[in-house]
Amino acid sequence: MVCLGNICRSPLAEGILKHKAQQKNLNWQIDSAGTGSWHVGDSPDSRSIDVAKKYGIDISQQRARQLQAKDLVEYDLLLAMDSSNYQNILKMASTEEEEAKVKMIMNYFQPGYNQNVPDPYYDSDGFEQVYQMLDKACDKILEG
Ligand code: 4NP
Repeated sequence: MVCLGNICRSPLAEGILKHKAQQKNLNWQIDSAGTGSWHVGDSPDSRSIDVAKKYGIDISQQRARQLQAKDLVEYDLLLAMDSSNYQNILKMASTEEEEAKVKMIMNYFQPGYNQNVPDPYYDSDGFEQVYQMLDKACDKILEG
């Protein structure tokens, strides 16, 4: 799960998918990262922690990290929250196989729409919407 800062959207995506995967007894390796380095080592934004908690998911122990080239080797899928993240991940790919692992997360919900999960950093009202979008996408990821 990849966004810009790894403090708002991708920590929520990680928490939601881990929660759903556990419920299905799936032993998936799920993590998140940011394309930027500003928040490395930080806890998730308190507004993300709060909205996750509202739905019974604890993301407070996560710490932000920056996406690395080796993530494109180690993981089968890199799910971008928006088109800017998507382009930045693609720039890090060194093979066609790695490029093929990069997807826009909301395309799991509405294939081909390339819908962005909006950055809620400057919009406190946006966190609930982000949660709902990611919840729907994660359901589809697990169906898939
Ligand atoms: P995120 O949100 O990419 O969903 O973690 C952001 C958090 C911080 C910044 C930008 C986006 N920032 O510019 O500091």
